[in-house]
Amino acid sequence: MNAMTKPEQQAVQGHDSEDFNTSNNPSITDVIEARLSRRSLFKAGFGTAGTAVLGSVALTACGGGSDAAPLPAAPVDTSIKLSFPAVAKSTADVLSVASGYTATVIYGLGDPLTAATPEFKNDGSDTDYDNRAGDHHDGMEYFGLNAAGTGRDVNGSDRGLLAMNHEALTDQFLHVAGVTANPRPAAEADKEIPAHGVSIVEVRKVSGKFAYDKASSFNRRITPLTPMQVNGVARGNALMKTKFSTSGNDCRGTINNCGTGYTPWGTFLTGEENWAGYFTRSATDDAARGGATAKSVVSLNRNGRAQGAASRHGWETAGTADKYARWNISQTGTSADGTDDYRNELNTFGYIVEIDPYDKTQAIRKRTSLGRFAHESAAFGKPAAGKPLAVYQGDDSRGEYIYKFVSAASWDAADASPANRITTGDKYLDNGKLYVAKFNADGTGQWIELSMATAAIANYATYRFADNADVAINARLAGDAVGATKMDRPEWCAVHPTTGEIYYALTNNANRKVEPSGSSQQGVDAANPRAYTDAPTAASAPGNINGHIIRMKEAGGENAAATFTWDVYLFGAQSDASLTQVNLSALTADQDFSSPDGLWFSPKTGLCFIQTDDGAYTDATNCMMLVGVPGQVGDGAATTLSYTKADGSKLDVTTRVGAKPAADKLRRFLVGPKDCEITGITETPDGKTVFVNIQHPGETITKANIADPAKYLSHWPGNAGYGAGGANARPRSATIVITKNDGGLIGA
Ligand code: FEO
Ligand code: CA
Ligand code: CA
Ligand code: CA
Repeated sequence: MNAMTKPEQQAVQGHDSEDFNTSNNPSITDVIEARLSRRSLFKAGFGTAGTAVLGSVALTACGGGSDAAPLPAAPVDTSIKLSFPAVAKSTADVLSVASGYTATVIYGLGDPLTAATPEFKNDGSDTDYDNRAGDHHDGMEYFGLNAAGTGRDVNGSDRGLLAMNHEALTDQFLHVAGVTANPRPAAEADKEIPAHGVSIVEVRKVSGKFAYDKASSFNRRITPLTPMQVNGVARGNALMKTKFSTSGNDCRGTINNCGTGYTPWGTFLTGEENWAGYFTRSATDDAARGGATAKSVVSLNRNGRAQGAASRHGWETAGTADKYARWNISQTGTSADGTDDYRNELNTFGYIVEIDPYDKTQAIRKRTSLGRFAHESAAFGKPAAGKPLAVYQGDDSRGEYIYKFVSAASWDAADASPANRITTGDKYLDNGKLYVAKFNADGTGQWIELSMATAAIANYATYRFADNADVAINARLAGDAVGATKMDRPEWCAVHPTTGEIYYALTNNANRKVEPSGSSQQGVDAANPRAYTDAPTAASAPGNINGHIIRMKEAGGENAAATFTWDVYLFGAQSDASLTQVNLSALTADQDFSSPDGLWFSPKTGLCFIQTDDGAYTDATNCMMLVGVPGQVGDGAATTLSYTKADGSKLDVTTRVGAKPAADKLRRFLVGPKDCEITGITETPDGKTVFVNIQHPGETITKANIADPAKYLSHWPGNAGYGAGGANARPRSATIVITKNDGGLIGA
């Protein structure tokens, strides 16, 4: 399936990239009708640019309190100049933040979430992760609380809830002597399983500084064992029936949660990313399911579970109890509908999941209408009263697609402060249309509807879709059917708070080639134009080594637009790489980066925060966060890259490069400790406090080296004085809080 060896992939791409898209993507024959609108790009339901939203719109506050529209309050000024000095690249095991700012660790792996839970010893002996912070802190959102701590206040900047993902594990450090091989001891699995999922934790200013409150009644863990309900188009569908839920209306748990979203009604969205790898399938399962062309086999293969695939952690070997058995998705039962085994269990993962962070009593929803794939973030287009909502999403695997969900319901501004948040989610997220993006060489693009109404889907020979639930569950196959554009691993997306333009981090792609061979490689195209070796040395196989950030502008500024225009905001590169083939954005040493991943706009300032998860430029620097002042689609120029093929013939590819960033429009703001990824960012509504996650420092560790702290790549944050262990500490994923020393806005 893959031409590169695993070590090659990891060297270029980090640990969590996967590629299962081997479709041919036949060219589409559907005629796409462009629904161009004359509506002003800047027209929106909440005031206008330059007007303070909270003062300009009368909203009914339901249930009292000071709820108001959780939407950008400040005009975005693209003339903003960055005020901080750039942070130098570094490979030291420290967290460096720009001069004039202070970064403090407040919430690390294992920190207790109840008053009765013991402090984290960080020696591998800790248990009870249901009541502790999970591992691998990832995407994160802040939800304001009122001063009394009794409920929501969207303007609450002194007290709030952080809802965050715990994507994965550095499993060796969770146990005293590292991981025991299969069969896994139940005691180890029982630590590893709940160390995944989501945590909700109260943070509050104490003496002017944020700390987390381990005794807060809002604190909560959501794990791979937490009951959830299936909502949307796939609810009750035959493909969702399991031994756990014979109705197909319920499911259990969430896993590998990566990016996040903040809904206009004040709930948390979490994306399930590399879920497939946690499950195993027997080497003879294809035959049990009816052979290689059986629908379920085609679906499993397309989603990364070929027969014989081993599970990431071997939890299915930890015992016969259901909580272990469910990780084996082989067809073992005799029922016709799969209600006596877990053959359909994989269909219950791969969604955007909605949680009301303020209310533990509300059932958690899997929003199946938004499609099933390796989700990253979920970013809303600017809400406009009386118009549908749009949710932008990406599928992070090599050669996968960019998606948009458009709600059937039109936005009602009163829903910014609803009496019931999670049923408001039902209103907007359970009914609507799912689209996939096709990028054209001329700088335009189309959104293609993924439903049985699209002829190429209804007639797709590779996989005979039964209904729209089948289309949503197998969104990747539907994207194949309509010839969607294969992208360089769509990571987070984010929407600029004023322009409404949509930005996607395309983190990197080792399978992007000038001359692709085999079905898993992709040729260079206008939107994914680079394939090169790692400058200045040629240590890696050619591909898009450093990634880029593409941006899109909907026709007429409409959430429901069928067409868009695009360009590339930034191409990641080393500053010393070729300016004509690689460093197309002319990044300087203060700006250069590789593998953009986390991507977020401050609603307060409109500044763009770019976080990296890199395995290519790590000879020169640890992962980082930059701050940018982006312009708009079309502010740069068309640029042609020239390649020479093996036979000496030429291949030219013309892309669209956004304005090259001036020194005061893009700067490195933070560099993390060794062997980490920077991911997850959110801020208080006043824009004066930013929270960032440092994921998996020192994750490269073997069982043999657990006993020797000198062999750990990182000791952060213990070596920075946080928690037990000091200079010899086991490294921990952790949340930091960043403030400007003069109390001002972050970055501006
Ligand atoms: Fe979890 Fe695609 O990063
Ligand atoms: Ca290099
Ligand atoms: Ca990510
Ligand atoms: Ca990543």
